[in-house]
Amino acid sequence: MKMMKKLSRTLLASCTAALLLSSCGGNGENTGFEYMPNMYRSPSLETYAGNAVFADSSVARTPVAGTIPRGFTPFEYGASLEEFKRAGLELTNPLEATSANLAEGKELYQMFCAHCHGKTGDGKGTIQNPVYGGIPSYADAAAIRRSGGTMSEMNDGEIYHTITFGLNAMGPHASQLMSDERWKIVQYVHELQQGNK
Ligand code: HEC
Repeated sequence: MKMMKKLSRTLLASCTAALLLSSCGGNGENTGFEYMPNMYRSPSLETYAGNAVFADSSVARTPVAGTIPRGFTPFEYGASLEEFKRAGLELTNPLEATSANLAEGKELYQMFCAHCHGKTGDGKGTIQNPVYGGIPSYADAAAIRRSGGTMSEMNDGEIYHTITFGLNAMGPHASQLMSDERWKIVQYVHELQQGNK
């Protein structure tokens, strides 16, 4: 047993010595052979920096003009009152009025709108703030709004435009909600416009 230990120790020592010797060059300055140096020394490039690979190496590559982020749907309307009215005239909900879409619209509404507009859309959300005092009920059929009609008459495009751009104390929701999510909410708001009927 002792013999075996001694033997293996000697073996280990000589192997290490052999390795050490073989890795050193003759004059001590040779770094040895580097196999595929690019794998060890990849060029470090800054994000959005220029790149010598391209003809104009001084500027970063930018996406082709008109490129949009994945999943983003362009909205061809501005924030003004005219654009709000145009959206009301031209847009209809592109989603099918399925119960699944409605259920999702309800869920999103509870997350993004109910704290101001109230669970039932009566304008009495849990936010207690004078700024948010004038929240109209969706079912209101008396007061004339900027659309020229009442809250209960607001159509697809008008509601979608409002969610996208907001109105006064109501902030825009374009960055929080994808296009199809906004349309699902629109479908649910129509439900709330019916009030308790
Ligand atoms: C921070 C509180 C707040 C949140 C959140 C909010 N709203 Fe509003 N909303 C308001 C207020 C306040 C008004 C009334 C603005 C005014 O008349 O000046 C309003 C008005 C509206 C109108 C009527 C616009 C018009 O032209 O008269 C609609 C439709 C509407 N909101 C839908 C929504 C939907 C849908 C959501 C959720 C995606 C939402 N709001 C989230 C506060 C909010």
